[in-house]
Amino acid sequence: MLESRGNWSTKAGFILAASGSAIGLGNIWKFPYITGDYGGGAFVLVYLICVAVIGLPLMISELIVGRRSQKNAVTAFEKLHRENSPWKIVGWLGVASGFIILSFYSVVAGWALAYIFKAIVGFSGTAEQITGQFGGLAGNASDSVMWHTLFMGMTIAIVIGGVKGGLERWSKILMPSLFIILFGLMTYGLFFTNGGMQAVSFLFKPDFSKLTSEAILSAMGHAFFTLSLGMGAMITYGSYLKTQEGILKDAIIISFLDTLIALMAGIAIFSLVFHYGMEPGQSVGLIFKTLPVLFAETGRWISVPFFILLTFAALTSAISILEVVVAYFIDEKHWSRKKATLLLGGIIYLVGILSAVGKWTVPFRGSDQGFLDIFDYISTNYMLPIGGFLTCLYVAYVVDEKIKQSEFGSSGALYMTLSILLRFVTPVAVFIVILNGLDLLPFVE
Ligand code: PFF
Repeated sequence: MLESRGNWSTKAGFILAASGSAIGLGNIWKFPYITGDYGGGAFVLVYLICVAVIGLPLMISELIVGRRSQKNAVTAFEKLHRENSPWKIVGWLGVASGFIILSFYSVVAGWALAYIFKAIVGFSGTAEQITGQFGGLAGNASDSVMWHTLFMGMTIAIVIGGVKGGLERWSKILMPSLFIILFGLMTYGLFFTNGGMQAVSFLFKPDFSKLTSEAILSAMGHAFFTLSLGMGAMITYGSYLKTQEGILKDAIIISFLDTLIALMAGIAIFSLVFHYGMEPGQSVGLIFKTLPVLFAETGRWISVPFFILLTFAALTSAISILEVVVAYFIDEKHWSRKKATLLLGGIIYLVGILSAVGKWTVPFRGSDQGFLDIFDYISTNYMLPIGGFLTCLYVAYVVDEKIKQSEFGSSGALYMTLSILLRFVTPVAVFIVILNGLDLLPFVE
């Protein structure tokens, strides 16, 4: 029996699910630590420009392709061009990115889950002992695999529930909870610590002397990851939309919410960092090493909600990544949702074990590296930008002008601006990110 594809029950449900996809580890784990590393305000400003100039046009493009075709990320490219169109490859690249990204994403999310329990027990001891807990978890293969198993199990269970009963239902529960928790943490940081004002000026007062070319490129690359672009997630979510109006408005709301949450997380985290006189540039360890040391002072009522927040954010993103992969097999191979989710989720889970067992390394870019770092590097620097670049060219030069105008809902000045960005500005910016990923930019050390 053929299952129907499914649809969002309300527009608000779609917005929450799509924002849930965008808002994830990228906002609460990655954005604060790269902002810390690249010196704050000037980096944030460049990032905001990237969201507007690269992110928003691409998000609109993906939503147009998805909504118009009513198809998964692979078939959508055929539908708006022709049968057996070579553009289908872009969709395949997206599905492949889904496998790779979710495999390591689930490992990091598993750590977030583990930290909820560590926070409940309480962080105590010397700073070394507390930061050492992270090595104890990430370096312990069986622990990491166990938490990865649990997180992947939750992801699979939600996706089996379908578009309305799984994705939409859980986004409606998790996203408002996430917002309330983050609002509470930010308010605490701003008004109940001595670091609030310093955090705000760190994030919003640009010091351009700190801006390097590497920072600019990271900001562009991060714009993709954080908005879930370049692998067909927004095509897939857009394909469950029935109504055609308001794609621009939806894209603006989703990008705005994603940015807002990243900035709120930045304020919440850096208020604590400054309050306790720490340096903001703590790299990858910011969330799992530095913060727990500070949480030993603040107590459980800050640390437990924080790691719940991180886990919720990761979960609503993980389900969207799995959905990209699952949707193709439901649409085209006519698999039942249950079979597709269990089988594909299962394979991704197995690939994830490579990342969870931190000790396994292979030579990559001149040194021995773990799978998690390699998968993160390849997907963020190559796969998503290449997927985004090709999607942009497809929408700019292949999709019929009339289709775009009718999906966009106007042919006025806003549409002209989008057209110009998509034809000339966005692809060039993305191409530079790709060259950088391939180490082909001479001026970036
Ligand atoms: N946007 C998510 C985050 O910021 O954590 C990650 C992500 C989700 C990337 C879905 C790509 C994707 F398709």
